[in-house]
Amino acid sequence: MPATSVQPASRQIFVTTALPYANGNFHIGHIMEYIQADVWVRAQRMQGHEVHFVCADDAHGAPIMIAAEQAGITPAQFVANIASGRKPCLDGFHIAFDNWHSTDGAENHVLAQQIYRDLRDAGLIATKTIEQFFDPEKSMFLPDRFIKGECPKCGAQDQYGDSCEACGAVYVPTDLKNPRSALSGATPVLKKSEHYFFKLSDPRCIDYLEKWTHESGRLQPEVLNKIKEWFAKDEHGQGGLSDWDISRDAPYFGIEIPDAPGKYFYVWLDAPIGYLASLKNHLDKIGVDYEAYINNPAVEQYHFIGKDITYFHTLFWPAMLHFSGRKTPNAVFVHGFLTVSGQKMSKSRGTGLDPLKYLKLGMNPEWLRYYLAAKLNGRNEDVDFNPEDFMARVNSDLVGKYINIASRAAGFISKRLGEKLGAISDDGLALLSLLQAQMEPVAQMYNERDCAKALREVMLLADRVNEYVDLNKPWELAKQEGKEARLHDVCSTCIEAFRMLSLMLKPVMPDLAAQVERFLNIEPMRFQAGLPLLGAGHPIAEYKHLMQRVDTPLLDALFEA
Ligand code: MSP
Ligand code: ZN
Repeated sequence: MPATSVQPASRQIFVTTALPYANGNFHIGHIMEYIQADVWVRAQRMQGHEVHFVCADDAHGAPIMIAAEQAGITPAQFVANIASGRKPCLDGFHIAFDNWHSTDGAENHVLAQQIYRDLRDAGLIATKTIEQFFDPEKSMFLPDRFIKGECPKCGAQDQYGDSCEACGAVYVPTDLKNPRSALSGATPVLKKSEHYFFKLSDPRCIDYLEKWTHESGRLQPEVLNKIKEWFAKDEHGQGGLSDWDISRDAPYFGIEIPDAPGKYFYVWLDAPIGYLASLKNHLDKIGVDYEAYINNPAVEQYHFIGKDITYFHTLFWPAMLHFSGRKTPNAVFVHGFLTVSGQKMSKSRGTGLDPLKYLKLGMNPEWLRYYLAAKLNGRNEDVDFNPEDFMARVNSDLVGKYINIASRAAGFISKRLGEKLGAISDDGLALLSLLQAQMEPVAQMYNERDCAKALREVMLLADRVNEYVDLNKPWELAKQEGKEARLHDVCSTCIEAFRMLSLMLKPVMPDLAAQVERFLNIEPMRFQAGLPLLGAGHPIAEYKHLMQRVDTPLLDALFEA
């Protein structure tokens, strides 16, 4: 599997996370996705691979257009306002995107139109006239979410055009009783319009996608199982992949369809193309030729996404790329949803865990990175943020087990042992070789996105180091006559071990790792075969406490309404 094996040669890797809708600030679910991808990217870079890691705002679509109108500004201004709030949050959580762009950027307009023309030339675009609700006052077709009425099943008032919140029924807007436009209150009328479709049901597409989705390493097994359901037809030959409506009528905030006046691409057509547009924008800035890069078969392409947008990324997107003559993703990595204390995220209320508030309270971003990474295992299961669990993991694992190793040894070296490491005897070397041997397996766990396993392994190793400390009791050696050399030996072992644990934690806690690099006077740490010890005589700087504990008042403040 190309995505997961540690290869000696430097690889060229293009990585994205899903492009968030530009109709609101980041919520904690977005941050989890970015942390998962950022950890993976950092682990790749630490293995010597070259990575371009990009994202962008998903700017287009009816909801953003309508929100902008309600705010009395243009959609472009609306999106720019949201975009301006992105950087503090990304920087705050040490998410190291190389570029942040917008699907309304010039590159995306050009690329989307090119890809569309290529798909049309391949015979995969069809048109069909369909009938939809139209708001006669606003003179626009209404998206399902902007039609309200009474539920056709239970009669509940004020339900949306796609489903009933009272009884859970799912229906089409034309089923609603007494429908009205949520924009103007007018009674919508049915109106015909010509729509453009991507022919996903074309046998070429189906054959190709059947093959593509089953190729080894592309998709997680649980994701593939879901996709198999989408391919399946029932006993009447119904179901399976159907054609995809990719056009919307003006007025629409989006990209115009070539040779189709008044028609725009549906937001989901141009959104994934935004990955390429952001990459191009980035490569242009750093003087790398985009066409040469993206057409290089050696370049690997990976997308991190949540499970709700699997269909778009594992069916539409590879088909669009392949049949427009482009390279398809090597893999799509699907994660589950984040809940907070078991509660699902609500679109209107968020979760009560506001990432920006977390940062404003001065909470350490690496607590969250560590906690979430410790829960992400590379499968698409949901992940829960539980405040008590969060506090326990950070305080007992990170501070209690890991930081403690440095704080118990460093003082002696800087105050009594000349600020240099000393010679290490056999018992210390045995412990260190145990750690050395786990370096490559841990890198491999990161490659497989099993951060949970990697961090469990690191904490087991930290336990071993702490057993060594408890056995040798440096604080007692320090009080005994003639034990200076042994004290130096034990503390040096601890510092060497601490360095290796820090290296293994670096993808998750890059800022802490940078502090450790300064403390230990070392070059940026990276995964390397046969990592040599720092060795006797290596000078270290004065130890400054590296991480505070989480306390209850802080957590209470975080969740205070
Ligand atoms: N704009 C589309 C994606 C276009 S990609 C070409 C979109 N945006 S989103 O803002 O709704 O979601 C962005 C990402 O956040 C998606 O991967 C989505 O699965 C993820 N998450 C949204 N809610 C989430 C949680 N509660 N937990 C974890 N991830 C969540 O979809
Ligand atoms: Zn109902």
